[in-house]
Amino acid sequence: MVMMSKKFIFPLLFFLAATVSFGQVVDYKKQIAPILSSKCNSCHTAKKKESDKKPKAGLALDTPGGIRAGGVLEPGDASSSEFFIRVSLPKTDDELMPPTDDGGPLSPKEIALIKKWIDDGARFSSGSGGGLGKIAADLDVAKVRAMPMREPNADGVSHLEGLGATVSQLAVNLPQQLVVEWISTYHKTTDKEIEQILHIAPNVVEVDLSRTKVTDEGLKHIGKLARLTHLNLSRTQITDKGIEHLSGLRSLEYLNLYGTGVGDGVLPILAKHRKLKSLYTWKTKITAEGLSKLRKALPDAKLVLETDAKSNRYDNLDNPDKKYDF
Ligand code: HEC
Repeated sequence: MVMMSKKFIFPLLFFLAATVSFGQVVDYKKQIAPILSSKCNSCHTAKKKESDKKPKAGLALDTPGGIRAGGVLEPGDASSSEFFIRVSLPKTDDELMPPTDDGGPLSPKEIALIKKWIDDGARFSSGSGGGLGKIAADLDVAKVRAMPMREPNADGVSHLEGLGATVSQLAVNLPQQLVVEWISTYHKTTDKEIEQILHIAPNVVEVDLSRTKVTDEGLKHIGKLARLTHLNLSRTQITDKGIEHLSGLRSLEYLNLYGTGVGDGVLPILAKHRKLKSLYTWKTKITAEGLSKLRKALPDAKLVLETDAKSNRYDNLDNPDKKYDF
């Protein structure tokens, strides 16, 4: 921690109180983004084309997604956030941001705004109260399909993370496409948490719900994720009824039903998923005869009745070395 002399800190506090109104919410777009674009982004901007320089320290501060991915924020606690620590160091410290030769330090008002913004939860959406709007009751797969794929709603991402989800980018060069998984918190994940995915619906391309408490009813929410390509439902309590809710997911390529209650009743629905490439049906009520009919409808898909550990990283989590004989 940096020691500040009393002589310094008292005038600073009065100055801060005079310049930042503490009752008000700091607006990321109006108050924080302009500081970053004038004082930070000459060095901390994501590469957009090959010829661009890489952002310094791999930290892109030009978009909410970049800031989140940088791991420099502890929402609610500025003094533990690298983002705030680096701008509040003394002038003589060579870790100060921006560096003293390059416009540093920020003004006390700018520093105070950043501190208050982080202490209040580092929200990216504007509006008093910040945070997330309600999920529209009439949201459906067609509406989601029509939504542009923009930078994901960063508050929606943080909200899901707060509910135990892991949200990651599909690839560094595909920052808008998100993968949502409940890895260690699956046992307490219910339809209620799962519904919150809808805050980032246009961005979600992969979802892993294996071993969660998702029900047929909860799959209604998943059925709205128009851009979903991968869905893992293994070892959940879903049945044929739940799969009906997925009939609008035209992009679905991978579906894992291992260890669920589904039977041959779902095959007519699955036959309509023309893009389906991999289907895992081990330990379900789906029969070999059923699958061979499906194979006629989807000749290019890989339909797996038995376990196939090599092609399916999820199947054998509990017992990776076990051999199954059929
Ligand atoms: C002149 C270029 C330059 C400017 C302007 C600049 N930085 Fe940096 N920043 C760097 C470099 C270089 C590093 C890596 C070296 C280091 O850690 O000190 C860095 C590192 C950081 C880190 C540490 C990242 C990590 O993962 O440890 C943070 C946080 C940071 N900068 C925030 C900011 C903020 C906020 C601003 C604007 C207020 C800013 N920087 C302005 C060049 C710059």
